[in-house]
Amino acid sequence: MKTVALILAAGKGERMRSPLHKVLHSLCGRPMIDYVLDAVAPLSNQKPLVAVSFEKEQILAHLGSRVDYIYQNPQDGWGTAVPVKAAKAQIADSDCVLIAFGDMPLVYAQSYQTVFSAVENGADCALLTAVMDPTPKYGRIVRKADGRVAGIVEDKDCTPEQLKIKEVNASVYCFKTEKLLSVLDEIGNSNAKGEYYLTDAIALFVQHGWRVEGIVAQEPSQCQGVNDMADLAAAEALMRARIHARHMKNGVRLIAPENTYIDDSVQIAPGAVIYPGCCLEGATVIGQDVTLLPNCRVSNAQIGRAARVESSVILDSQIGEETTVGPNAYIRPNSRIGAHCRIGDFVEIKNAVIGDGTKVSHLTYVGDADLGRDINLGCGVVFVNYDGKNKYRSTVGDHAFIGCNCNLVAPVQIGADAYIAAGSTVTQDVESGALCIARSRQSVKPGWVAKRREKGLLK
Ligand code: UD1
Ligand code: CA
Repeated sequence: MKTVALILAAGKGERMRSPLHKVLHSLCGRPMIDYVLDAVAPLSNQKPLVAVSFEKEQILAHLGSRVDYIYQNPQDGWGTAVPVKAAKAQIADSDCVLIAFGDMPLVYAQSYQTVFSAVENGADCALLTAVMDPTPKYGRIVRKADGRVAGIVEDKDCTPEQLKIKEVNASVYCFKTEKLLSVLDEIGNSNAKGEYYLTDAIALFVQHGWRVEGIVAQEPSQCQGVNDMADLAAAEALMRARIHARHMKNGVRLIAPENTYIDDSVQIAPGAVIYPGCCLEGATVIGQDVTLLPNCRVSNAQIGRAARVESSVILDSQIGEETTVGPNAYIRPNSRIGAHCRIGDFVEIKNAVIGDGTKVSHLTYVGDADLGRDINLGCGVVFVNYDGKNKYRSTVGDHAFIGCNCNLVAPVQIGADAYIAAGSTVTQDVESGALCIARSRQSVKPGWVAKRREKGLLK
């Protein structure tokens, strides 16, 4: 059966009160429409269609050529039947059309498959329903005495009796295309909102004597949609719980899942232990046996096996095996830190390479530099990489020792095994194996205080 998926995303999304299009709000790091697209795309025999209107540029910029677009013209009125009418030409040669709503990100791919299979097996229309108590303000499923679906009544149009119905419409449908197209023009807008409701198609199918199947979802929470910011937070919490379950099933220890935030895209190897307050974002990959102690933000970073990170921020960077980071380190983009390194407290690293075994233990800034292996940077070393206009790179060779409170003024090269005395401001290259002292010599004047006092110049 030739199938086409149509995702509706042309509504105003007024209840969000946000300049960002509703379906582009993210759930665990991904715009909600991406989840919908992932769920329906495998069932579509052609590029999925997305209906757009308001702020369509935002959706086009995000989805690009992954989908084909249907434009809902505001002059044609509003309501969920309108974008389907607008899609007539693009769906006409299909046998069935799978309709998904861009604001229903939690619906499982399996549920779309289920409604599709029902049509494949002879139904003219299949839809997903959910029994919800308390019941949200969704369309209510009205069933006949024999249990068959009679139609859907929107919350605002319900009689007090109908409002008591706990079975709601999840807006997941599969229709025989020809039949759907034949009833669309019969849908009017004489209802509480003055809109053309796709839900009215169900009663029309029933009136024509066509077979409609209402399939009750096993897990009703997947049918929670997003209409406002409170719904978004609730949906995100559900998605987060799914992500956590996936990782825990895979051998990842989450000390307090309720206070752990992992994007859908993050990969975590078994044996990793994640303490509360950690946010793992984007294309992050956490290696086996890594420990993320409390309050780490790791974004688009790779953390090698058995590394330990505490209360630190790591952005677009790599951390090698068995390296320790933090507490309170800030690893900025494009940094590559080797294995067995120690990156200690209040250390900032930016756009730098740090070789294996190198220690940067405290209060140090390494920016735009290439450091070899087994180097020791003392406390308070600063790579002076910026002259107010341009940035320059510096290098430090293997086994070098940089004393406390040194400034390395870039561009400068420190050779392997070199020693830089504490408090030096290094402006010229230092050859391998040399000692560099770049500070004024200490001078001591014995008895100076007593003499000053005698002269009455000191208290
Ligand atoms: C809709 C259903 C309701 C169901 C609920 C489940 C209708 C009339 N109502 O209500 O039965 O219980 O979903 O979440 O279908 N859209 C357009 N063009 C429009 C209007 C809406 O493309 O003119 C799109 C929106 O962008 C959105 C989706 O359709 O993605 C749903 O619209 P929305 O207004 O949120 O419908 P609900 O009130 O949630
Ligand atoms: Ca909705």
